[in-house]
Amino acid sequence: MKKIITLFIIFFSIHAHGQNALFIPDTLQGPNYNLTIHEDSVQFFPGTITHTYAYNSNHYLGPTLILNKGTHVTINVTNLLNDTSTVHWHGLHVPSKWDGGPYSSILPGASWHPQFTVMDNASTYWYHPHTDMKTAKQAIKGAAGLIIVRDTIESALVLPRTYGIDDFPIILQCQQYDSMNQAMSLGMEDSTLLVNGTMHPYLDAPAQVIRLRLLNASGERTFNFGFTGNMPFYQIASDGGLLDAPYLTTRVRLSPGERAEVLLNLTGMTGQTINLMSFASELSIGIEGGPTMPMPPGSPPMDSPLNGIDYTILQLNVVLPALMNVVTTIPTSLTTNTPYPEMSANRTRTIRFTADSAMVMDGPFYFNDSSFSMMRVDYRIPVNSVEIWKLVNETMVGHPFHIHDVQFFILDRNGMPPNPNEMGRKDVVFVPPGDSVRFITRFTDFTDSVVPYMFHCHILMHEDAGMMGSFVVLDSAAFTGVNELNRDAGFSVYPNPACTFVSVKINMPVEKSELKIMNILGETVSESTLLAKNNSAEPSTMDISGLPKGIYFFQLKTDTKIFNCKLIKQ
Ligand code: C2O
Ligand code: CU
Ligand code: CU
Repeated sequence: MKKIITLFIIFFSIHAHGQNALFIPDTLQGPNYNLTIHEDSVQFFPGTITHTYAYNSNHYLGPTLILNKGTHVTINVTNLLNDTSTVHWHGLHVPSKWDGGPYSSILPGASWHPQFTVMDNASTYWYHPHTDMKTAKQAIKGAAGLIIVRDTIESALVLPRTYGIDDFPIILQCQQYDSMNQAMSLGMEDSTLLVNGTMHPYLDAPAQVIRLRLLNASGERTFNFGFTGNMPFYQIASDGGLLDAPYLTTRVRLSPGERAEVLLNLTGMTGQTINLMSFASELSIGIEGGPTMPMPPGSPPMDSPLNGIDYTILQLNVVLPALMNVVTTIPTSLTTNTPYPEMSANRTRTIRFTADSAMVMDGPFYFNDSSFSMMRVDYRIPVNSVEIWKLVNETMVGHPFHIHDVQFFILDRNGMPPNPNEMGRKDVVFVPPGDSVRFITRFTDFTDSVVPYMFHCHILMHEDAGMMGSFVVLDSAAFTGVNELNRDAGFSVYPNPACTFVSVKINMPVEKSELKIMNILGETVSESTLLAKNNSAEPSTMDISGLPKGIYFFQLKTDTKIFNCKLIKQ
């Protein structure tokens, strides 16, 4: 086995010809930002053009948005694609209607103008499309960009923060291209590494403390970051903010969607070369990118040649230090994170990761056996509720679980406290096969009964195939209201309030029933027959987008009974 690994490494270094300087996306400063998504192309491979998506003047990816905590920002997003898109601000705590999930479609040629106050701590966030069932396709074509949030706590520390000089974005994607050199969203043989859209990249890094903002923007691959010679480095931030103190380590594992900021001390190393690597041979089986199950000899290659080996991601050529603001020390402490005490939790939700059978390797995967539906809201969460979410992975592969709206704190992995580098604010947590993870969070504000937030697996193919759910945060009045409205109904109508579609679920086996919708004056506005659905778990969907706003009464008439239910149309 050792021999095979060495051979692969030689193979890859021979092919690492024609190195390219690492592309550094330009930055946009607020408070007003313009983002235009468009079709473009890049010549990644000699002789052919790869069709891409990009924002603004880029041919691939988008500019880095610099946001300052506490400021109010407006972002004007224009969609010049021939396809619907959305833009989601991954990791940012914003109202659901400005969160850019699948409900916030931007039609071709249209614009969208989210505005919000930046409430998050200094860290590295990102943006990407979240279009229903098309997130993978759009993101791997290049629609993604970095967000850097700055705040006063981070600014008071002695840290490298000169963008592109000692503070570098590292947006990593591992892609599969088809025979025409076009990105494939279902590739299991992803073997083309792009850092900031650059193939075979190198970076001239100054001989001082540098900061790398690592983002795993891949569709499925997990990376086990480290440097040649196991050179130690410090992780200073997780997804949503600084750690309490720099964490000295030689490895950081990042699954899709996760970020880490690391400091690497290159002081006195001018003239040397050091590589950012993924030590994927150390990942366990069942993690995308780790070693794969042994196949009988002679079987066709099914997996990427990168799986389970150690490979270079970015070559750092150490050059003379910069002239100004040279950082040569590592701070001893960074901030104080105060996780919510477990005792304060109002409730626990258990989310099992499931599949059609225990042997499924490539999906579809589900949460609690059900697939995502735009017509259903999975959880109604009272505002200010402190919740523990328990994630139980019952499948054979690892899944990065991501939730919108909030940052959370990991309580434990299989009952054990997390590593110090996972004790800070997080919005993605990787759950290896068979493991269970608990996190705690609080839903502090942004009540909205109309537009839900999402939670999902950040393996984009799993997400698009239904490994996603939704929730709304409701103020207590609306919350008790919903319960009272439908207290003893033999059927339920949801979401409530609703604006476009509602699901009608009959809570008992019936042969046939008549559904009538009446307005507040008692006039019938719609009548329909719901056919036998002995399996009452199957809801029927109704389009109510044509109804004026207001209160409606749903009346369900079965052979024996009449049930009533009140719905608010928004
Ligand atoms: Cu990175 Cu729901 O998203
Ligand atoms: Cu997100
Ligand atoms: Cu998954």
